[in-house]
Amino acid sequence: MYLQRRNRILRQSSAVRDLVAETRLSSNDFIVPLFIVEGEGIKQEIATMPDYYRLSLDTLVIEVRELWSMGLKSVLLFVKCDDARKDNLGTEALNADGLMQRSIRAIKNAVPEMLVMTDVALDPFSSFGHDGIVEKGEIVNDATVEVLAKMSVSHVAAGADFVAPSDMMDGRIGAIRSALEEAGYHKAGIMSYSAKYASCFYGPFRDALDSAPGFGDKKTYQMNYANRIEAIKETIMDVEEGADIVMVKPALAYLDIIREVKNAVTVPVSVYNISGEYAMIKAAAKMGWLEEDKAILETLTAIKRAGADLIATYFAKQAVRLL
Ligand code: PBG
Repeated sequence: MYLQRRNRILRQSSAVRDLVAETRLSSNDFIVPLFIVEGEGIKQEIATMPDYYRLSLDTLVIEVRELWSMGLKSVLLFVKCDDARKDNLGTEALNADGLMQRSIRAIKNAVPEMLVMTDVALDPFSSFGHDGIVEKGEIVNDATVEVLAKMSVSHVAAGADFVAPSDMMDGRIGAIRSALEEAGYHKAGIMSYSAKYASCFYGPFRDALDSAPGFGDKKTYQMNYANRIEAIKETIMDVEEGADIVMVKPALAYLDIIREVKNAVTVPVSVYNISGEYAMIKAAAKMGWLEEDKAILETLTAIKRAGADLIATYFAKQAVRLL
């Protein structure tokens, strides 16, 4: 047999495989989500997210120092609001001395160079567990957008570098951009959850923050997973309204969307490798059914190969240790 082309030549050793690899992971790719609670000395494992924790301000600072030392340079903050402080309007979200605002200041105090991104949505603060204000059983758009804009200004005033609206209300990126400009925050970035689908894979996250919707579901604002072209529409509109970074979420059942979005825009595309995706690998590994380390690297590489410029992932620390 005489062959002109033998494709296995480029696969014969790890040296040549590494040389011609098209996708490489590095610590620069990752955004680390962090869950924050009131209290002191708390490092509380989340039942549905093994090896992932809710942290109080003091343990948060220790964690952020460690992340920085590992080359992980951006964090995405989520806070768990006490039930007593929840209401329909998400009032606590605007508290200049709220847990989010204090967390931002604590991190910036301890590690000033750490890029701090904050979640902007009402669900952790909402007595209904919805991302917006509820009126007559409906999630109202425009009144919610006003609160989200104020919330964003409040986070940036506390020192956040980027706000990350995860709510999927219409027009919120434009409103947030205008509010930041009016307040004189010309350097604040917006990472928009642009193509965020209504997904069952958010379950463990809602457990972490106790933020599950009290009635109904999120299908009137988050996208229908049957749709692809709509993701492009949502993303292009967010870019036009002023998003600096866009996002596709979840990741694994949406690799086609990641590629479509990557081809459609010229801003960086982030992808959220979400809680349910984390839980699936952790659970299978616990059962001895998957090799955890290999599953993590294969998954993250696939997300990047699909078109992700950055990946928010609960595996960030583990991945950096493996690289
Ligand atoms: C809420 C929010 C959610 C996530 C990030 N921000 C959950 C939801 O929309 O119900 C999910 C993240 C994850 O599952 O890891 N605005």
